[in-house]
Amino acid sequence: MGKKAMVLRLVIAALIALEAQGAELLKNGGFESLDSWECSNIHCALTSVKHSGSHGLEISGRQHSYEGPAQHIHVTPGHAYHASAWVKLLNNPGNTNGETLELELDFLFNDNTHLYKSAAVHHNTYVGSDWIHLIGDFTAPSKSITSTRFYIKGPEPSTNYVVDDASVTSGGGSQSQQGINATNSVIDKIRKSDIHVQVTLASHINTADVNIHVLQTRKAFPFGTAVAASKYNENVSGGKYRDFIHTHFNWAVLENALKWPHLEPHRGDKHFQDALDTINGLRKHGIKVRGHNLVWSVPNKVQDWIKALSGNELRTVVKQHITETLQKTHGLLEHWDVNNENLHGTWYQDTLHDPDYDLELFNMTHHIDSHVKLFLNDYSVVSGGSTDRYLHQAQRFKAAHVGLYGLGVQCHFYTVPSYQVIKDRLDTLAKAGVPLWVTELTVNSNHDENKGADLFEQTLRALYGHPAVEGILLWGFWDHAQYRPERSSLVRGDNVELTAAGRRVLDLWENQWMTDDTRVLSQTGNQYTVRGFHGDYEVRVIYKGHELTQLKKTFTLGKADHTVTVSVHA
Ligand SMILES: *[C@@H]1O[C@H](CO)[C@@H](O)[C@H](O)[C@H]1NC(C)=O
Ligand SMILES: *[C@@H]1O[C@H](CO)[C@@H](O)[C@H](O)[C@H]1NC(C)=O
Ligand SMILES: *[C@@H]1O[C@H](CO)[C@@H](O)[C@H](O)[C@H]1NC(C)=O
Repeated sequence: MGKKAMVLRLVIAALIALEAQGAELLKNGGFESLDSWECSNIHCALTSVKHSGSHGLEISGRQHSYEGPAQHIHVTPGHAYHASAWVKLLNNPGNTNGETLELELDFLFNDNTHLYKSAAVHHNTYVGSDWIHLIGDFTAPSKSITSTRFYIKGPEPSTNYVVDDASVTSGGGSQSQQGINATNSVIDKIRKSDIHVQVTLASHINTADVNIHVLQTRKAFPFGTAVAASKYNENVSGGKYRDFIHTHFNWAVLENALKWPHLEPHRGDKHFQDALDTINGLRKHGIKVRGHNLVWSVPNKVQDWIKALSGNELRTVVKQHITETLQKTHGLLEHWDVNNENLHGTWYQDTLHDPDYDLELFNMTHHIDSHVKLFLNDYSVVSGGSTDRYLHQAQRFKAAHVGLYGLGVQCHFYTVPSYQVIKDRLDTLAKAGVPLWVTELTVNSNHDENKGADLFEQTLRALYGHPAVEGILLWGFWDHAQYRPERSSLVRGDNVELTAAGRRVLDLWENQWMTDDTRVLSQTGNQYTVRGFHGDYEVRVIYKGHELTQLKKTFTLGKADHTVTVSVHA
């Protein structure tokens, strides 16, 4: 190889290495000057309205919604990238649904064709929504690219806006090793504590003859699933469905059986037994249960006889329903989703002409049963771009002191975003200062088992590896009892057999994220520390190959470190 070729190779290798470390591709993403941004046919000016630093970029004078500040960047075909920017609208147009904002890529190829790709979308944006964080991923097309233009698209031309803190970095791919490493260190920090093992031995005992086995017998972290009550109660597939639930989950939520249309399809025609049988069965096996849901504000989820009501009669009927349901389930449920998907439907508020009725529903529930924890529960808040709206809703509920405990984030992933996008969205929601529960996780398998397993693992790592996430429930796990069987079944078929995703998920939950540590004292010394996952433990002492059962100890490891002392006098 010639010297020039060698240098070129080194430079290319260095560039690729630089890319792999998440290098910034945009120049002047902080908009402290007008440098590097193209503003053709639009007006761009620095403004003191900013997300950080001293300035943002104000955009006005647009003729088309696709016009916005742009910058040419260099991307590598086939590589994955992460894109992000903060946008604030300055005026509302007549559009009552709010505006759509996007981060867009325009790839030009040498045959003069273009490919447009959206990296991030945010719908329903209003002036009152404050700063909107647009985040997402894109993969550069796997063919020779002549040029790549990054730009901000939308809102309607009459809406002016400010953009700040724009960024495009490499390595946004969902398989990013960086992301896995980052979650591993968070997991180590927040899901584990130290177990200090201190052993004293009678003088005649040889340390080479003593093994100490620290074994986790139960996990503290809630991993759960939605349960189809009728299938559970009917004991389908020879009981394999319920056995799987009892063996592999410590939390559950009834998929449908507690929804009002199931409890009371016609006025006064009540059906609580199915739900109660399932809840009691689950609890008998040590499984905690979420209640889902007291009312559901999306109009097509409201049963017909309710839809015929209004005014005080509607208020009375809702209160009776909530009171009766809380009485019948008292002491049996840990959580309630009070008003499901209220970000995407406001039927009760609209029908009663009372925009604060959403708060009243929580307050009422909290006063009837102050022990059960109350949740908002919504979709497209981690899997899509409604994150900021959900944060604002949560802040409003929190400020009203109506008993909001946490945010249910459904997490129906049709496409799985990168670790970074999931983390950014969870970070945004965590600003509400209440716990986050992943309530309805589904992961599209892409019709390829192994790819599906990879995506499932990445998603679980990103969720379990976030400090605000307090529990994770799947929205079903068996293709015979699942709302979207094409998504992420852990088991399949009449015989309830594990899929690739099932093997992967159980390996994480029951092997990688559980602690099982055996040491010979001659190698570790009499005092040592095991970093263990939170949960219940047994410590066993093995002397010359036989357990000294009278020395067995049990304890529960929580957020505080724990010391176990063992005294061996065989
Ligand atoms: C991830 O962690 C492994 C093991 O600690 C390390 O070898 C590797 O360099 C890390 N990769 C990144 C991208 O941080
Ligand atoms: C469910 O089925 C299994 C296997 O056939 C059986 O052992 C069990 O007793 C059944 N339980 C109920 C509640 O029917
Ligand atoms: C909540 O309900 C209680 C009892 O009905 C009432 O006293 C209180 O004013 C309500 N609070 C809010 C914020 O609506």
